[in-house]
Amino acid sequence: MKILVVGGGGREHAIIKSLKKSPRVTEIFAAPGNGGIAADAVCTGIGAKDLDGITAFAKENAIDFAVVAPDDPLVLGAVDRLEAVGIPCFGPNKAAAILEGSKVFSKDLMKKYGIPTAQYEVFDDMEKALQYLKTAPIPTVVKADGLALGKGVTVAETREQAVEAVRACMEDKVFGESGSHIVIEEFLTGPEVSVLSFTDGNVVVPMVSSMDHKRVGDGDVGPNTGGMGTVAPNPYYTAEIAKRCMEEIFLPTMHAMNAEGRTFKGCLYFGLMLTPNGPKVIEYNCRFGDPETQVVLPLLESDLLTIMEATAKGTLAQTEVKFADKHACCVVLASNGYPKKYETGFPITIPDDLDAEVFVAGAKLEDGVLKTSGGRVLGVTATGDTLREAIDKAYAQAARVTFDNAYCRKDIGARALKAQNG
Ligand code: AMP
Ligand code: GLY
Repeated sequence: MKILVVGGGGREHAIIKSLKKSPRVTEIFAAPGNGGIAADAVCTGIGAKDLDGITAFAKENAIDFAVVAPDDPLVLGAVDRLEAVGIPCFGPNKAAAILEGSKVFSKDLMKKYGIPTAQYEVFDDMEKALQYLKTAPIPTVVKADGLALGKGVTVAETREQAVEAVRACMEDKVFGESGSHIVIEEFLTGPEVSVLSFTDGNVVVPMVSSMDHKRVGDGDVGPNTGGMGTVAPNPYYTAEIAKRCMEEIFLPTMHAMNAEGRTFKGCLYFGLMLTPNGPKVIEYNCRFGDPETQVVLPLLESDLLTIMEATAKGTLAQTEVKFADKHACCVVLASNGYPKKYETGFPITIPDDLDAEVFVAGAKLEDGVLKTSGGRVLGVTATGDTLREAIDKAYAQAARVTFDNAYCRKDIGARALKAQNG
């Protein structure tokens, strides 16, 4: 089968490497792909948001199945466009992708269907938002309604920070139209857990849980990033909590989307906080997480293509989705300075005998040499029988992957280890 994967980051590289294990896959194309993905797929260079280009390419090249991985094309309706020309897809259609595309939609959905989440107010008028902030409990959380490259959320520790965030969204329009509506919500506390799931609108099949490390610095300090590393499974996510999440969050979300006429098919990502009052939804994503995917898919033992096809067809209940009873750790190597200013163009050396998987995010090929081209450059993932083993191996192997100005957190998995050891 000829597969097209839309996207060009570490997540897409992990999806492609996993799909390559399927005996039925003959060729994989990526749109756009990147310099590292080029080792595993044909990179088309077509932009992930170029829906005309993607649809035309898929038709001309007789693509049998497409996987749309990033949020932007999903929210823009890439799946609707591909299906309209007869190409089966993995990913939600536009009507369902709104679950991530609009925080106002997702908050209102949770309220309507009694799904646990932070209390909130919605504003489309800045003066009213500022008025509300005069008496709102602090800390508080300000969220731009639409997609904002993961930067639309401000956890405000003071009233001034909250006011600044509201003004940035609604006056300075730093997120464009995404910030013309905002959500101001209750500040929650507790460990965070990422649960990616497959859902076809009939069942929800959770993947192994994971833990992201969003802040740039060791000890969770500094600005938020796209994610500096992950471990799976997440030790906070016990079998008992998993059962509760299925009953109180996962199935109610699937039923709510069905009831709204927005059946969700694809990867539904639950960003959860395990608060003293039980698990609550921090955010929904309509796609695989990055870098969660880089620890989740290496633990998948079943055939990813078969699962993705079943998700699209609605036969997930009859399909095996099995994860190894092991642990995984992904350490992201970034360009020093990320998420602020950084330099690129440095050659990357990856030893042939590396005992880990490398998922490339921000690198390009120049005259056959792989060079850094982005903030997050690549992720090194190792698996082990214990969390300790996975972490130690990931760091030992990451140290063998070199480029100038490389930066990584030194404590990926440390919090998970502590939680596990009590
Ligand atoms: P997001 O961009 O939606 O993933 O949010 C970024 C981060 O902000 C989350 O991972 C949480 O750590 C934090 N956050 C979002 N909403 C809340 C909330 N209601 N209470 C506390 N922290 C939050
Ligand atoms: N790692 C968080 C996300 O993919 O949104």
